[in-house]
Amino acid sequence: MTNQSISQKTGLPKASGRICWQSPANIALVKYWGKYPLQIPMNPSLSFVLKESVVKICMDYLIDPGSPFQLVSFLLNGQVNAVFKSRIQKYLESLVPFFPFLQHAQLHIDSESSFPHSAGIASSAAAFSALALCICSIEETIGREAADGDEFLRKASFISRLGSGSACRSLYDGMVLWGKTDLQAGSSDDFAIRLGESKVHRSFLNIKDSVLIVNSDRKKVSSSAGHALMHHHPYREQRKEQASANLKKLLNALEKGDMSLFGKVIENEALSLHSLMMSSNPGYILMHPNTIRLLEKIRDFRTETGIQAYFTLDAGPNIHLLYSEADATHVIPFIKDELAGLCQNGRWIDDGMGPGPQKPEAGG
Ligand code: PMV
Repeated sequence: MTNQSISQKTGLPKASGRICWQSPANIALVKYWGKYPLQIPMNPSLSFVLKESVVKICMDYLIDPGSPFQLVSFLLNGQVNAVFKSRIQKYLESLVPFFPFLQHAQLHIDSESSFPHSAGIASSAAAFSALALCICSIEETIGREAADGDEFLRKASFISRLGSGSACRSLYDGMVLWGKTDLQAGSSDDFAIRLGESKVHRSFLNIKDSVLIVNSDRKKVSSSAGHALMHHHPYREQRKEQASANLKKLLNALEKGDMSLFGKVIENEALSLHSLMMSSNPGYILMHPNTIRLLEKIRDFRTETGIQAYFTLDAGPNIHLLYSEADATHVIPFIKDELAGLCQNGRWIDDGMGPGPQKPEAGG
């Protein structure tokens, strides 16, 4: 519900209401690693969004031209969270140049994460994309001419990026590309785009992603610190070339439906990401002993059965096992019998490609 009146003194609308958005995490196939100021990526990256790993944000807003910006409250799963509140407050303040109404906004934010408690999966992409969608929706509601769907999502992707780089890829279903590249018309460093249907073979739609939770402790080295180490990395230029070459191969694999090439590229990207961490100065290791054991088991399973299940890794010890929906009847028993025992408390999440952000009713 929205209430709105125009302030005679400033011409700004006085408005109040409640907006909700639910947005997913995404898993990168070609990794974004290294950035320039304002989250401009050193290389293009490609990902898809997950179905089960989502964050829902409801924002109650009052725009009062007589009052300054205030994030009045921030709740995560019903609990006050001072650390997140201060990060989100800074983020929203940084958006004022793009959304002048925020200077006079009083906000209450309620966020709910579907991520199993401390599953060790980064929820920041889901959270920042949901926040960005709420801000864009408020802008639309308080009177700016409604943008068409593409422009709306582009703006949401643009401002998600300012919160967490990879969040800009959480706005779309299908395969999503972020970063300027000659390989794709319309690609940009500022926002992500969805690959057209003709560019993605149907065998990759509904791809499965089983997330093997090896360890859910907080990472010892954050992604921000890892990105920063790329500035003086001895292999920085080679990494940029490698990412573009891998992107080219992956685009080709996606278009042709070539699962074997797809698998080669994503495993190379995952191992390269962790090699870059190890060869940073100082170097660091985020994989755990069981990460390596699981990677070996996955490769052995593939050799023995011929079933095309491939791994990728984020900046952490947990494994994303990707395979086509048609192979789930073989892969799920393999996970239960052979892999779950090496996961923390036997924990893994049955996930897969999802439909992208959803706008639930603002009541809940
Ligand atoms: O968006 P950030 O700053 O959390 O960085 C994400 C980096 C990786 O997850 C390792 C790769 C990626 O492309 O998502």
